[in-house]
Amino acid sequence: MAFVVTDNCIACKYTDCVAVCPADAFHEGPNFLAINPIDCIDCDLCAPECPADAIFQEDELPTGQEQFKELNAELSEVWPKITDVISPLPDADKVNGVPNKIDQLIVE
Ligand code: SF4
Ligand code: F3S
Repeated sequence: MAFVVTDNCIACKYTDCVAVCPADAFHEGPNFLAINPIDCIDCDLCAPECPADAIFQEDELPTGQEQFKELNAELSEVWPKITDVISPLPDADKVNGVPNKIDQLIVE
């Protein structure tokens, strides 16, 4: 069982989650973080720390967020690990809570 980063992280990327992860399971893309499901130890330390409430256990994903399970698995394979907290993206507070930001996800 693993935790999954979902839509509301996009364009926010607060990274508070990274500070508490004992498994170094987070990987960083341009405007989103992904959890590697192989590294995640299912500890639930990260979810309460996210100011965007974007992290859920894979079996408790909100309706419409199911695709993020596969996205986290795929993107964490290609993006580098992130283990240090960094500044949020400039518009983080402005776009926190805006639904369906998936179209803004930058995959590179
Ligand atoms: Fe890391 Fe625990 Fe969150 Fe998994 S549930 S990503 S191990 S803090
Ligand atoms: Fe994203 Fe929340 Fe972490 S916005 S970077 S999942 S603290």
